[in-house]
Amino acid sequence: MALLKVVFLFLVAAETIYGQSFRFSTCPKIKPQENFNVTQYLGTWYEIKKLPAMFERGKCVQAKYSLLQDGAVRVHNSELLKDGKINSIEGTAKVEDHAKPAILSVSFFKVVPDSPYIVLNTDYSSYALVYSCSDYFGLFHIDFAWILSRTRHLDSATVSLLQDKLTLIGVDVSRLSVTDQTGCGPMASA
Ligand SMILES: *[C@@H]1O[C@H](CO)[C@@H](O)[C@H](O)[C@H]1NC(C)=O
Repeated sequence: MALLKVVFLFLVAAETIYGQSFRFSTCPKIKPQENFNVTQYLGTWYEIKKLPAMFERGKCVQAKYSLLQDGAVRVHNSELLKDGKINSIEGTAKVEDHAKPAILSVSFFKVVPDSPYIVLNTDYSSYALVYSCSDYFGLFHIDFAWILSRTRHLDSATVSLLQDKLTLIGVDVSRLSVTDQTGCGPMASA
């Protein structure tokens, strides 16, 4: 497992050259959404802004969450590539500690360590703020963040409110990139 972590680290290091998502400190202390109810969180979410994530290169990025029989959540992420093809990836998310229901653990590939998926804030019906952070060797951390919306557009007041929450935990919101959610017609079937 240690070796896999190192391999993963190199992949992430390659990504951070572009994304600058690693910093020499440990993960910030965070407060996940209280009384998180995963049932209300299921369904489709559209990515509005993100801290650069290496698996995403297209536009119209969206995530569909559905419940599996064992209580885990099926994750289906898709995006529209420049050539018009739809790129999808399947994963699974699980609550590891039922006392902390807003902290999920997501896995996409068996060879890559699971990543935390922490819902910081959501009203379930319009917006969600998701954060992920992993410590490495107690030396530095790599974090990811997503501002998600139930529609392909989120009003700027809500976006700035969510950015303020990220600022509070020490995330430099100037590192956020905007996801293009225009011309997404072909995604209707994704
Ligand atoms: C979660 O939400 C669902 C759907 O609204 C509801 O049926 C369920 O009772 C809620 N669970 C808790 C623990 O509140």
